[in-house]
Amino acid sequence: MSKKKLTYINELEKFEGQSATLHGWVYNKRSSKSLIFIVLRDGTGLCQCIVNQADVSAEVWEAADSLSQESSVAITGKIIEDERSSSGYELHVTGVKVYQIAQEYPITPKEHGTEFLMENRHLWLRSQRQWAIMRIRNEIIFAIHKFFQDRGFIQMDAPIFTGNAVEGTSTLFETNYFDEKAYLTQSGQLYGEAMAMAHGKIYTFGPTFRAEKSKTRRHLTEVWMIEPEIAYYDLYMNMDLAEEMISFIVDRVLTRREQELETLGRDISKLQKVTNNFPRITYTEAIEMLKSDKMRDMLNDMETSRKEEDPKLRTEMAEIEKEHGQAKKGRKLQIEKRLREIRARLEEIEEDLRNIPVWRKSALEKQWGDDLGGSDETLLTMQFDTPIMVYGYPAEIKAFYMKHDPNDEKVALGVDMLAPEGYGEIIGGGQREESLDALLTRIKEHNLPEEAFKWYLDLRKFGSVPHSGFGLGLERTVAWICGLSHVRETIPFPRMLGRLYP
Ligand code: 4AD
Ligand code: MG
Repeated sequence: MSKKKLTYINELEKFEGQSATLHGWVYNKRSSKSLIFIVLRDGTGLCQCIVNQADVSAEVWEAADSLSQESSVAITGKIIEDERSSSGYELHVTGVKVYQIAQEYPITPKEHGTEFLMENRHLWLRSQRQWAIMRIRNEIIFAIHKFFQDRGFIQMDAPIFTGNAVEGTSTLFETNYFDEKAYLTQSGQLYGEAMAMAHGKIYTFGPTFRAEKSKTRRHLTEVWMIEPEIAYYDLYMNMDLAEEMISFIVDRVLTRREQELETLGRDISKLQKVTNNFPRITYTEAIEMLKSDKMRDMLNDMETSRKEEDPKLRTEMAEIEKEHGQAKKGRKLQIEKRLREIRARLEEIEEDLRNIPVWRKSALEKQWGDDLGGSDETLLTMQFDTPIMVYGYPAEIKAFYMKHDPNDEKVALGVDMLAPEGYGEIIGGGQREESLDALLTRIKEHNLPEEAFKWYLDLRKFGSVPHSGFGLGLERTVAWICGLSHVRETIPFPRMLGRLYP
């Protein structure tokens, strides 16, 4: 006896002209007197299923007629090629088996506010946009593994409960570990360094935690981080690796998830430019760019163009709102769509106009030694088409483990990769301090408990070598590649300030 197998919408070409049974959920339904059109969703795609009253029994017709949005069903019928359908096929129904008639579904095709959708994240995941994002996230995850595995890296897992702060103490989640203080890890790096001394080149891939009290479009409290660590790599080899990895990921998504990018309306031409040779600029150069006349001019131009766009949009809005009353149904829908677009754009403009003066002040007043803020990163990346790498930060604003530049003690051999189109930092990393004495000094300077780092210091006693690595934030990478305005849509169940459910 052959094993029972399901048939999926994304493999219908194998069933053309034959009968097949699809298992899924009703995405949409409309009916006329003698026809019912069901758009079925099965997780792999959408397929239109047509019930013709003349061809089916009264029972099948009634079952089809009773289906509400998101009811679960198995639908049997003949698979017919149809180029108008998104799957390329439609199904002419002969049988319907109902698993459950869904109650009134809260998410309808009309527009919902983000807060409402976030409350219903467990259901929102079924919608087309979210579906596309998750498939791209999956592609990125797979690409990362492929990239490292093909290059002989060993994936190893760092613990989540830890006794050490990696990235400073300000963003630690503290927990009680059998009456001992423990923290949720901020980064697997310190363990990654130990593992690299055992295996040469490794990467971790796991959740990390940041008690970030900031509500921004790029901060989550639970972040999936990918952290390669490589023995005998210096800062520059590390940058080569980061660049190669990002180019590889983007290329894989472009070739394998074109349809999903299209669903999201992503401008693919922007991603196509992401092929190696990312500009590398020093922190000092970045500060100069921020303070430059060119930056001031760019911001002034941006402000002027937003100020001109606003009244134009408002005039258009008033005109089509007037037209709406008398318009025919088709035109009415068109107008409503345009009105939504205009309102969204006006909100963006308002936000930009609020932000620009703040950004300008932050950029122009930058001093060597200041950290780069989100807006500074946005402004820097707006000057380039590809990601850029900023390296050589002031040691003072970087973590204790960073190696200092032997030619300039004030500078740490750290690097951040900033994604284009205003996305900003997606990678942070650098070369690690390999000297025991220097590390002991840093731990004291940072007021860290030496005792907790005893094991880490051992790595500098037993065959210490130059080594480097970095951490890639998965959610920020997904946001950039998908072209999303907020990281909350990049992970199935985001954790951020004020959100623990669902
Ligand atoms: O720059 P970070 O803090 O670097 C480290 O943790 C290093 N120990 C990594 C290493 O060298 N192995 O974090 C790395 C990346 C950031 O560039 C960002 O993409 C992401 O992790 N990240 C966050 N993403 C979303 N929300 C947050 N709160 C994030 N914090 C870090
Ligand atoms: Mg960082």
